[in-house]
Amino acid sequence: MKLYNKVAIVTGAASGMGKAIAELYAKEGAKVVVADLNQNAISTVVSGISQAGGTAVGVVANVTKEEDIQAMVDKAVEAFGSVDILVNNAGIMDDFRLIGTMEDDLWERVLAVNLTGPMRAIRKALPFMLEKGEGVIVNIVSTAGITGGKGGVAYTSSKHGLVGLTKNVGYMYAKSGIRCNAIAPGGVRTNIAHSMANIDMAGMQVFREGAGTQRKEPVDPVEIATVALFLASEDSRFVNGTVIAADGGWTAY
Ligand SMILES: NC(=O)c1ccc[n+]([C@@H]2O[C@H](COP(=O)([O-])OP(=O)(O)OC[C@H]3O[C@@H](n4cnc5c(N)ncnc54)[C@H](O)[C@@H]3O)[C@@H](O)[C@H]2O)c1
Repeated sequence: MKLYNKVAIVTGAASGMGKAIAELYAKEGAKVVVADLNQNAISTVVSGISQAGGTAVGVVANVTKEEDIQAMVDKAVEAFGSVDILVNNAGIMDDFRLIGTMEDDLWERVLAVNLTGPMRAIRKALPFMLEKGEGVIVNIVSTAGITGGKGGVAYTSSKHGLVGLTKNVGYMYAKSGIRCNAIAPGGVRTNIAHSMANIDMAGMQVFREGAGTQRKEPVDPVEIATVALFLASEDSRFVNGTVIAADGGWTAY
């Protein structure tokens, strides 16, 4: 088992990639904190993990709320004694809005979930990692975090910001035993389209024109969970402050 007895928090773990990561980490021996917005969805994931012989607890945590972030990390410490791994996975899209149709409240909502949430979660979890002299942070970015044409302006900016956060934390805390990396997934079969309401068709069209270059799209979330396992485990002990694209070659074109 690659994560035996490690304590892992996964945000947005009730669906899609977060769920796949939580399940794989538990299978590899981690004690997992399943954090998301909806109690019923959280309970389904937690009982699935328990039935499969794993260990998990759930916590309702909206990553845009500082008090929820505090409670999420406190829950990990209370239930399992510490935090070894933090996966900042919760994220929403932005209707593929071009800058001309971007509204302030949508911009702020996307930045709050995709960028400020991870910053606050790292800020809260880091002291526990520093105390142990080791810890791993995995941020789920996107191909939109390393290129300019794979999302709307807020999503693209938030994910580029998350790449910067990843590199800064990875570099600044390297000597303290903390690693911080990101995964940039290509198209993955999840429920994220539900976070869009009023799509900017011009923005969507630009995205579609470039989408054909991914070899296998969309893929099962497990294709990303295996990369998240690599980054959380000792197998990647010399990998820090970087982004791994898991996109079937999409961004290589
Ligand atoms: N699906 C893709 O093709 C794709 C590609 C690249 C990157 N991503 C990124 O992967 C991550 C996971 O997305 P997914 O595709 O699995 O989507 P998903 O919608 O299936 O899952 C996202 C989860 O995050 C939760 N969430 C949303 N806002 C939240 C908040 N404020 N606080 C806590 N939880 C919240 C949702 O309830 C949901 O359970 C996101 O960061 C997304 O940007 C997705």
